[in-house]
Amino acid sequence: EGDEQLEARPPVVTVMGHVDHGKTRLLDAVRNTKVVEGEHGGITQHIGAYQIQHVHEDTTRAITFIDTPGHEAFTAMRARGAKVTDIAVLVVAADDGVMPQTVEALNHAQAANVPIVVAVNKMDKEGANPDKVKGQLTEYGLVPEEYGGDTMFVHVSALQGMGIDELLEAVLLTADAALDMRANPNKDARGIAIEANLDRGRGAVATVLVQSGTLNVGDTIVAGTAHGRVRAMFDENGDTVTTAEPSRPVQVLGLSNVPRAGDTFFVTDDERTARQIAEKREAADRNAALAKRRKRISLEDFD
Ligand code: GTP
Ligand code: NA
Ligand code: MG
Repeated sequence: EGDEQLEARPPVVTVMGHVDHGKTRLLDAVRNTKVVEGEHGGITQHIGAYQIQHVHEDTTRAITFIDTPGHEAFTAMRARGAKVTDIAVLVVAADDGVMPQTVEALNHAQAANVPIVVAVNKMDKEGANPDKVKGQLTEYGLVPEEYGGDTMFVHVSALQGMGIDELLEAVLLTADAALDMRANPNKDARGIAIEANLDRGRGAVATVLVQSGTLNVGDTIVAGTAHGRVRAMFDENGDTVTTAEPSRPVQVLGLSNVPRAGDTFFVTDDERTARQIAEKREAADRNAALAKRRKRISLEDFD
Protein backbone atom coordinates (compact mmCIF):
# COMPACT_ATOMS: atom_id res chain seq x y z
CA GLU A 1 0.00 0.00 0.00
CA GLY A 2 3.10 2.16 -0.16
CA ASP A 3 2.19 4.42 -3.04
CA GLU A 4 -1.46 4.68 -2.17
CA GLN A 5 -2.94 8.16 -2.24
CA LEU A 6 -3.99 8.48 1.36
CA GLU A 7 -6.29 11.33 2.23
CA ALA A 8 -7.58 12.59 5.56
CA ARG A 9 -10.79 10.98 6.72
CA PRO A 10 -13.09 11.78 9.68
CA PRO A 11 -12.59 9.90 12.95
CA VAL A 12 -15.14 7.21 13.80
CA VAL A 13 -16.39 7.46 17.37
CA THR A 14 -18.42 4.98 19.43
CA VAL A 15 -20.32 6.14 22.49
CA MET A 16 -20.24 3.65 25.37
CA GLY A 17 -21.08 3.52 29.05
CA HIS A 18 -23.36 2.22 31.79
CA VAL A 19 -27.09 1.94 31.19
CA ASP A 20 -28.95 5.25 31.57
CA HIS A 21 -25.81 7.31 31.96
CA GLY A 22 -26.97 9.37 28.99
CA LYS A 23 -25.35 7.93 25.85
CA THR A 24 -28.38 8.40 23.64
CA ARG A 25 -29.25 11.80 25.09
CA LEU A 26 -25.69 12.89 24.50
CA LEU A 27 -25.84 11.72 20.89
CA ASP A 28 -29.12 13.59 20.53
CA ALA A 29 -27.49 16.73 21.85
CA VAL A 30 -24.62 16.34 19.41
CA ARG A 31 -27.03 15.72 16.57
CA ASN A 32 -29.49 18.49 17.36
CA THR A 33 -26.87 21.15 17.64
CA LYS A 34 -24.46 19.90 15.02
CA VAL A 35 -26.08 17.79 12.36
CA VAL A 36 -26.34 19.65 9.11
CA GLU A 37 -30.01 19.05 8.57
CA GLY A 38 -30.91 17.80 5.13
CA GLU A 39 -34.25 18.95 3.87
CA HIS A 40 -36.56 15.99 3.59
CA GLY A 41 -40.23 15.51 4.13
CA GLY A 42 -41.62 13.17 6.66
CA ILE A 43 -40.13 10.03 8.05
CA THR A 44 -36.77 10.01 9.78
CA GLN A 45 -34.88 6.87 8.89
CA HIS A 46 -33.31 5.09 11.78
CA ILE A 47 -29.64 4.74 11.15
CA GLY A 48 -27.15 3.50 13.71
CA ALA A 49 -24.40 5.77 12.54
CA TYR A 50 -24.15 9.32 11.34
CA GLN A 51 -21.72 12.05 10.52
CA ILE A 52 -21.73 15.55 11.95
CA GLN A 53 -19.82 18.67 11.01
CA HIS A 54 -17.98 20.38 13.82
CA VAL A 55 -17.19 24.02 13.19
CA HIS A 56 -14.26 25.36 15.17
CA GLU A 57 -12.69 28.75 14.52
CA ASP A 58 -12.36 28.76 10.74
CA THR A 59 -12.27 25.03 10.13
CA THR A 60 -15.07 22.52 9.68
CA ARG A 61 -14.38 18.90 10.43
CA ALA A 62 -16.56 15.88 10.13
CA ILE A 63 -16.89 13.28 12.88
CA THR A 64 -18.68 9.95 12.46
CA PHE A 65 -20.61 8.66 15.46
CA ILE A 66 -21.76 5.11 15.88
CA ASP A 67 -24.76 4.58 18.04
CA THR A 68 -24.44 1.06 19.36
CA PRO A 69 -27.12 0.13 21.85
CA GLY A 70 -25.12 -1.25 24.74
CA HIS A 71 -21.74 -2.64 23.83
CA GLU A 72 -23.07 -5.94 22.55
CA ALA A 73 -22.71 -4.72 18.99
CA PHE A 74 -19.20 -3.54 19.71
CA THR A 75 -18.30 -6.90 21.22
CA ALA A 76 -19.87 -8.77 18.30
CA MET A 77 -17.91 -6.67 15.85
CA ARG A 78 -14.69 -7.22 17.77
CA ALA A 79 -15.33 -10.95 17.88
CA ARG A 80 -15.38 -10.87 14.07
CA GLY A 81 -12.11 -9.01 14.08
CA ALA A 82 -13.69 -5.80 12.88
CA LYS A 83 -12.05 -2.62 13.99
CA VAL A 84 -14.83 -0.19 13.47
CA THR A 85 -14.10 2.63 15.87
CA ASP A 86 -11.14 4.98 16.19
CA ILE A 87 -12.17 6.51 19.51
CA ALA A 88 -14.54 5.61 22.33
CA VAL A 89 -16.44 8.26 24.22
CA LEU A 90 -17.05 6.79 27.66
CA VAL A 91 -20.13 8.37 29.21
CA VAL A 92 -20.20 8.36 33.02
CA ALA A 93 -23.03 9.99 34.95
CA ALA A 94 -21.48 12.40 37.43
CA ASP A 95 -23.97 11.48 40.15
CA ASP A 96 -23.71 7.68 39.78
CA GLY A 97 -20.01 7.43 39.08
CA VAL A 98 -18.31 4.33 37.71
CA MET A 99 -20.67 1.36 37.42
CA PRO A 100 -20.19 -2.25 36.20
CA GLN A 101 -20.93 -1.50 32.54
CA THR A 102 -18.62 1.52 32.68
CA VAL A 103 -15.83 -0.89 33.51
CA GLU A 104 -16.94 -3.37 30.82
CA ALA A 105 -17.00 -0.61 28.24
CA LEU A 106 -13.55 0.68 29.09
CA ASN A 107 -12.21 -2.86 29.14
CA HIS A 108 -13.53 -3.40 25.62
CA ALA A 109 -12.02 -0.16 24.38
CA GLN A 110 -8.67 -0.77 26.06
CA ALA A 111 -8.52 -4.35 24.75
CA ALA A 112 -9.13 -3.01 21.26
CA ASN A 113 -6.46 -0.35 21.77
CA VAL A 114 -8.98 2.41 21.20
CA PRO A 115 -8.25 5.78 22.83
CA ILE A 116 -10.92 6.90 25.27
CA VAL A 117 -12.38 10.35 25.88
CA VAL A 118 -14.44 10.54 29.07
CA ALA A 119 -17.69 12.49 29.03
CA VAL A 120 -18.67 13.17 32.64
CA ASN A 121 -22.37 13.62 32.06
CA LYS A 122 -25.34 14.93 34.07
CA MET A 123 -23.27 17.78 35.45
CA ASP A 124 -26.53 19.68 35.97
CA LYS A 125 -27.60 17.26 38.70
CA GLU A 126 -27.51 18.04 42.39
CA GLY A 127 -25.25 15.13 43.31
CA ALA A 128 -22.78 15.58 40.45
CA ASN A 129 -19.27 14.70 41.62
CA PRO A 130 -16.81 14.78 38.71
CA ASP A 131 -13.77 14.50 41.00
CA LYS A 132 -15.05 11.18 42.28
CA VAL A 133 -15.44 9.94 38.68
CA LYS A 134 -11.87 11.00 37.91
CA GLY A 135 -10.55 9.26 41.00
CA GLN A 136 -12.43 6.08 40.16
CA LEU A 137 -11.31 5.98 36.52
CA THR A 138 -7.70 6.66 37.46
CA GLU A 139 -7.72 3.21 39.02
CA TYR A 140 -8.52 1.78 35.58
CA GLY A 141 -5.69 3.61 33.89
CA LEU A 142 -7.75 6.53 32.64
CA VAL A 143 -5.78 9.33 34.26
CA PRO A 144 -6.95 12.91 33.70
CA GLU A 145 -4.47 15.50 32.56
CA GLU A 146 -4.62 17.39 35.85
CA TYR A 147 -3.41 14.21 37.61
CA GLY A 148 -0.54 13.88 35.14
CA GLY A 149 -2.25 11.50 32.75
CA ASP A 150 -3.27 11.90 29.15
CA THR A 151 -6.98 11.08 29.15
CA MET A 152 -9.27 13.96 28.34
CA PHE A 153 -12.26 14.36 30.65
CA VAL A 154 -15.03 16.71 29.55
CA HIS A 155 -17.85 17.88 31.79
CA VAL A 156 -21.15 17.75 29.93
CA SER A 157 -24.85 17.93 30.45
CA ALA A 158 -26.59 16.16 27.61
CA LEU A 159 -29.86 17.49 28.97
CA GLN A 160 -28.81 21.12 28.82
CA GLY A 161 -26.53 20.77 25.81
CA MET A 162 -23.60 21.93 27.92
CA GLY A 163 -20.02 20.99 27.05
CA ILE A 164 -20.84 19.51 23.66
CA ASP A 165 -18.40 21.69 21.71
CA GLU A 166 -15.67 20.90 24.25
CA LEU A 167 -16.40 17.20 23.87
CA LEU A 168 -16.11 17.36 20.08
CA GLU A 169 -12.87 19.34 20.45
CA ALA A 170 -11.51 16.68 22.82
CA VAL A 171 -12.44 13.96 20.32
CA LEU A 172 -10.59 15.74 17.52
CA LEU A 173 -7.56 16.51 19.70
CA THR A 174 -7.36 12.89 20.80
CA ALA A 175 -7.74 11.69 17.22
CA ASP A 176 -5.05 14.04 15.95
CA ALA A 177 -2.67 13.08 18.74
CA ALA A 178 -3.15 9.33 18.67
CA LEU A 179 -4.20 8.27 15.20
CA ASP A 180 -3.31 8.31 11.55
CA MET A 181 -6.71 8.94 10.08
CA ARG A 182 -6.15 8.51 6.40
CA ALA A 183 -7.57 6.31 3.70
CA ASN A 184 -7.45 6.07 -0.06
CA PRO A 185 -10.82 7.14 -1.49
CA ASN A 186 -9.77 6.37 -5.07
CA LYS A 187 -10.44 2.66 -5.19
CA ASP A 188 -13.19 0.11 -4.69
CA ALA A 189 -14.84 0.38 -1.30
CA ARG A 190 -14.23 -1.86 1.70
CA GLY A 191 -15.78 -1.55 5.10
CA ILE A 192 -17.97 -3.04 7.78
CA ALA A 193 -21.65 -3.75 8.22
CA ILE A 194 -22.79 -2.02 11.39
CA GLU A 195 -26.39 -3.16 11.53
CA ALA A 196 -28.97 -4.59 9.22
CA ASN A 197 -32.60 -5.53 9.16
CA LEU A 198 -35.21 -6.90 6.83
CA ASP A 199 -37.70 -4.26 5.75
CA ARG A 200 -40.99 -5.50 4.37
CA GLY A 201 -41.01 -3.02 1.52
CA ARG A 202 -37.35 -2.45 0.85
CA GLY A 203 -35.84 -5.85 1.55
CA ALA A 204 -32.49 -6.11 3.34
CA VAL A 205 -31.42 -2.73 4.68
CA ALA A 206 -27.83 -2.59 5.87
CA THR A 207 -25.97 0.25 7.52
CA VAL A 208 -22.38 0.01 6.42
CA LEU A 209 -19.32 2.04 7.27
CA VAL A 210 -16.98 2.66 4.36
CA GLN A 211 -13.40 2.36 5.62
CA SER A 212 -11.46 2.76 2.41
CA GLY A 213 -12.29 3.47 -1.19
CA THR A 214 -15.55 4.95 -2.38
CA LEU A 215 -18.84 3.06 -2.53
CA ASN A 216 -21.09 3.91 -5.45
CA VAL A 217 -24.68 3.14 -6.28
CA GLY A 218 -24.50 0.33 -8.85
CA ASP A 219 -21.46 -1.33 -7.21
CA THR A 220 -21.69 -5.05 -6.59
CA ILE A 221 -20.78 -6.00 -3.03
CA VAL A 222 -20.36 -8.94 -0.70
CA ALA A 223 -21.17 -8.38 2.97
CA GLY A 224 -20.72 -11.50 5.08
CA THR A 225 -22.89 -14.03 3.31
CA ALA A 226 -25.03 -11.37 1.68
CA HIS A 227 -24.40 -10.08 -1.82
CA GLY A 228 -25.99 -7.80 -4.36
CA ARG A 229 -25.87 -4.68 -6.41
CA VAL A 230 -26.24 -1.45 -4.45
CA ARG A 231 -29.66 -0.21 -5.56
CA ALA A 232 -29.79 2.93 -3.44
CA MET A 233 -27.93 4.57 -0.57
CA PHE A 234 -29.16 6.94 2.15
CA ASP A 235 -27.37 9.17 4.62
CA GLU A 236 -28.35 9.72 8.28
CA ASN A 237 -31.09 12.14 7.23
CA GLY A 238 -32.67 9.64 4.89
CA ASP A 239 -31.48 11.60 1.87
CA THR A 240 -30.29 9.61 -1.13
CA VAL A 241 -26.59 9.71 -1.87
CA THR A 242 -24.78 8.23 -4.85
CA THR A 243 -21.30 7.89 -3.33
CA ALA A 244 -19.85 7.22 0.12
CA GLU A 245 -16.23 7.99 0.99
CA PRO A 246 -14.04 6.68 3.85
CA SER A 247 -15.61 7.04 7.34
CA ARG A 248 -19.03 7.66 5.84
CA PRO A 249 -21.85 5.50 7.15
CA VAL A 250 -24.66 4.78 4.71
CA GLN A 251 -27.76 2.69 4.48
CA VAL A 252 -27.54 0.34 1.56
CA LEU A 253 -30.39 -1.33 -0.31
CA GLY A 254 -30.02 -4.22 -2.72
CA LEU A 255 -28.47 -7.05 -0.67
CA SER A 256 -29.74 -10.61 -1.02
CA ASN A 257 -30.11 -11.03 2.73
CA VAL A 258 -29.18 -9.44 6.04
CA PRO A 259 -25.48 -9.27 7.01
CA ARG A 260 -24.42 -9.40 10.66
CA ALA A 261 -22.92 -6.55 12.65
CA GLY A 262 -19.20 -6.71 12.10
CA ASP A 263 -19.31 -8.47 8.74
CA THR A 264 -16.84 -6.95 6.34
CA PHE A 265 -17.99 -5.85 2.91
CA PHE A 266 -16.12 -5.20 -0.29
CA VAL A 267 -16.80 -4.45 -3.92
CA THR A 268 -16.45 -7.20 -6.54
CA ASP A 269 -16.04 -6.99 -10.30
CA ASP A 270 -19.47 -8.36 -11.08
CA GLU A 271 -22.58 -9.89 -9.58
CA ARG A 272 -21.55 -13.44 -10.37
CA THR A 273 -18.32 -13.11 -8.41
CA ALA A 274 -20.19 -11.56 -5.48
CA ARG A 275 -22.68 -14.42 -5.45
CA GLN A 276 -19.95 -17.05 -5.62
CA ILE A 277 -18.01 -15.55 -2.72
CA ALA A 278 -21.18 -15.21 -0.65
CA GLU A 279 -22.16 -18.82 -1.37
CA LYS A 280 -18.69 -20.06 -0.45
CA ARG A 281 -18.89 -18.20 2.84
CA GLU A 282 -22.34 -19.58 3.51
CA ALA A 283 -21.11 -23.12 2.91
CA ALA A 284 -18.14 -22.51 5.22
CA ASP A 285 -20.48 -21.20 7.94
CA ARG A 286 -22.70 -24.28 7.52
CA ASN A 287 -19.73 -26.62 7.77
CA ALA A 288 -18.44 -24.86 10.86
CA ALA A 289 -21.85 -25.16 12.51
CA LEU A 290 -22.01 -28.85 11.57
CA ALA A 291 -18.54 -29.51 12.94
CA LYS A 292 -19.47 -27.83 16.18
CA ARG A 293 -22.59 -29.94 16.50
CA ARG A 294 -20.66 -33.15 15.76
CA LYS A 295 -18.10 -32.25 18.37
CA ARG A 296 -20.81 -31.65 20.93
CA ILE A 297 -22.47 -35.00 20.13
CA SER A 298 -19.21 -36.91 20.37
CA LEU A 299 -18.46 -35.28 23.74
CA GLU A 300 -21.92 -36.26 24.97
CA ASP A 301 -21.12 -39.87 23.99
CA PHE A 302 -18.55 -39.93 26.76
CA ASP A 303 -20.97 -38.73 29.46
P1 GTP B 1 -29.24 3.03 27.66
O1 GTP B 1 -29.23 3.20 26.18
O2 GTP B 1 -30.53 2.49 28.20
O3 GTP B 1 -28.04 2.35 28.19
O4 GTP B 1 -29.21 4.51 28.32
P2 GTP B 1 -28.39 5.76 27.85
O5 GTP B 1 -27.02 5.69 28.40
O6 GTP B 1 -28.53 5.94 26.41
O7 GTP B 1 -29.12 6.93 28.64
P3 GTP B 1 -30.25 7.89 28.08
O8 GTP B 1 -29.69 8.84 27.12
O9 GTP B 1 -31.41 7.08 27.70
O10 GTP B 1 -30.55 8.71 29.39
C1 GTP B 1 -31.06 8.08 30.54
C2 GTP B 1 -31.83 9.09 31.35
O11 GTP B 1 -30.95 10.09 31.85
C3 GTP B 1 -32.89 9.84 30.56
O12 GTP B 1 -34.01 10.06 31.38
C4 GTP B 1 -32.21 11.13 30.22
O13 GTP B 1 -33.11 12.19 30.01
C5 GTP B 1 -31.38 11.39 31.45
N1 GTP B 1 -30.21 12.19 31.17
C6 GTP B 1 -29.31 12.01 30.18
N2 GTP B 1 -28.39 12.95 30.20
C7 GTP B 1 -28.70 13.77 31.24
C8 GTP B 1 -28.10 14.94 31.78
O14 GTP B 1 -27.10 15.47 31.32
N3 GTP B 1 -28.71 15.48 32.89
C9 GTP B 1 -29.83 14.95 33.45
N4 GTP B 1 -30.32 15.53 34.51
N5 GTP B 1 -30.40 13.85 32.95
C10 GTP B 1 -29.87 13.28 31.86
NA1 NA C 1 -31.79 4.69 28.76
MG1 MG D 1 -29.39 4.70 24.94
